[in-house]
Amino acid sequence: MSAPKSACRRVRELHEQLHEHNYRYYTKDDPLISDAEYDQLLRELQALESRYPELITPDSPTRRVGAAPLKGFGEVRHEVRMLSLDNAMTDDELAGFEQRVCRVLEIDEVEYAAEPKLDGLAVSLLYQDGRLVRAATRGDGTTGEDITQNIRTLNSVPLRLVGEDVPETLEVRGEVFISHAGFEELNRQTAAEGQKSFVNPRNAAAGSLRQLDPAITAQRPLEMFCYGVGKVTAGSLAATHTETLSKLKAWHLPVYEDVECVSGLAGCRDYFNRYEQLRDDLPFDIDGVVFKVNRFDQQEVLGFVARAPRWAIARKFQPEESETTVLGIDIQVGRTGALTPVARLEPVFVGGVTVTNATLHNEDEIQRKDVRVGDHVIVRRAGDVIPEVARVVIEKRKKGAAKFHMLTHCPVCGSQVTRAEGEAVARCSGGLFCPAQRKQAIKHFASRRAMDVEGLGDKLVEQLVDEALIADVSDLYCLAVDEVAGLERMATKSAVNLVAALDKSRTTTLGRFVFSLGIRGVGEATAQLLAQEFGELESLMATDVETLEAIHDIGPIVAQHIVDFFGEQHNRDVIGKLLAAGVNWPAVEKPREQPLAGKTFVLTGTLTMPRNKLKEKLQVQGAKVSGSISKKTDYVVVGENPGSKHDKALQLGVAVLDEAECLQLISGKS
Ligand code: IVH
Repeated sequence: MSAPKSACRRVRELHEQLHEHNYRYYTKDDPLISDAEYDQLLRELQALESRYPELITPDSPTRRVGAAPLKGFGEVRHEVRMLSLDNAMTDDELAGFEQRVCRVLEIDEVEYAAEPKLDGLAVSLLYQDGRLVRAATRGDGTTGEDITQNIRTLNSVPLRLVGEDVPETLEVRGEVFISHAGFEELNRQTAAEGQKSFVNPRNAAAGSLRQLDPAITAQRPLEMFCYGVGKVTAGSLAATHTETLSKLKAWHLPVYEDVECVSGLAGCRDYFNRYEQLRDDLPFDIDGVVFKVNRFDQQEVLGFVARAPRWAIARKFQPEESETTVLGIDIQVGRTGALTPVARLEPVFVGGVTVTNATLHNEDEIQRKDVRVGDHVIVRRAGDVIPEVARVVIEKRKKGAAKFHMLTHCPVCGSQVTRAEGEAVARCSGGLFCPAQRKQAIKHFASRRAMDVEGLGDKLVEQLVDEALIADVSDLYCLAVDEVAGLERMATKSAVNLVAALDKSRTTTLGRFVFSLGIRGVGEATAQLLAQEFGELESLMATDVETLEAIHDIGPIVAQHIVDFFGEQHNRDVIGKLLAAGVNWPAVEKPREQPLAGKTFVLTGTLTMPRNKLKEKLQVQGAKVSGSISKKTDYVVVGENPGSKHDKALQLGVAVLDEAECLQLISGKS
């Protein structure tokens, strides 16, 4: 039996009412009805939906917790890369940023949008015709995980946007976090259930968002604030960042209240100072404030570098500090053989977590700070950064405390320790002979951002190497279930899972594969870049320093590391074995030719085609479209009644095109 019209109508009414009440309650904190009345409406809708299941839609208010657990997260490619932010740790660094912005824009005072830097996780929400259709984590900025079912459970995230002018496609970006109150309540619950508590709100938020069972996420007090947009079609949103945020807010998306327009460096400093004071009274963690050039046309002129925009900066707060004592100094051997002295500490609570180890960086740092066993020290921690020993409280030093000396031989393999001239880092010369280096290299290879071998954790890698089941990464693909199952504390089921996970990891991308090799200085972004530039492994392996250095963003040192790495026969052998074991990736798509790359256009006057259309056509060819003319402008495209920009173009001697000429240029026929 199909649903009668009256039921359809009532369901629509209930949707609207419940969405509105939900918004009033969770986003505006200003409810119109009692919880009991809300529940009654929800129950009425549930009853109608169970009677007429065909009336259930994905954006129904009942769907916030309805989904079944997943087996794993799907991948999402971000059409517009999710960038990160550069940091300014000091006032001078902020001044440097502001100067650069003024210089590039060729103006004296710039307007910035100022907002808090929330300490949570970046997510992207995709709305299609006003309906939430997908949510994803940031991942590596290019590819994230599909967390749609989990995001649906956040009551402050609208399943449907309200308003007339909602774009057809709207990708909203923001931070998901847990408040202090939510965090405490959550830890009370986990303690009551005898589970391990979360170390800080950020970890709790991350753990809650990466749940395969949305019913668990639904019980976690996750919140969100939106701080920008990604892909938007059918018209641009507004001319400035703050106007965009106002629009998001009008469509019922959660936006932080106190985003302010400030002017110049002085305005930025005032906002920063105010938030430094306010910080402890806020209901959630922030680790700084963010300044963004407010006008989009100016943002466009500034553009971005590898992973961060040049039009924004995070001014971070001073890290938090506490005093404790040094129980011992251990030497850890890293993936590249670097020996890192680590202070073992009397446990101390700092920056929201209990710290038991702190890095002393390298031999020079230890000597400079003169840290000795038994010393009272100040430990510093900022956000996710590894805790470090900031300084010694010298007045409290006990008599006879011995000075620290770097080891002459590797504590793991006994090889000689060497220190290259001009380098601060002492290294074990054992290379892959050293089990510590081997273990680190394998851990890196298997990690989530690299080959992503699920279930191959640090402990297991150590066991596999210690038991001589593997000597290098290629041996992983030869592991048999019964070999793994023979390890201590290893159940057959886990062994089966591990071999299956290894099998799955065989199919990867060239970028991930290059990253997983652990070449010195080649992080994720550089690995991606190399994959893009070379397109295939063979040509990367055969390249030389000059070719590498010609790539924007690759310096001489990293270029040399890359060439050295592939020059080493041992590495070539391991790569050969990996390929023979079936490691593979799809062909890399070469980015389209962009004949107008590096050219800046300014559009002025009334054009026959919509301005955004022309702008898009230019951008597809690699051109930048800016709102203001400068000496760096290559072309000004002039429509009817062009106004002052036309005059300025003539004054500066910038080439002037009419619309038809511009289209010819785009089609490559001029
Ligand atoms: S804007 C292109 N605004 O900080 C700019 N990010 O360190 C991209 N974050 O990945 C981000 N609060 O997760 C922006 N008000 C804010 C933010 C913010 C927190 C996070 C975000 C980003 C990270 C970069």
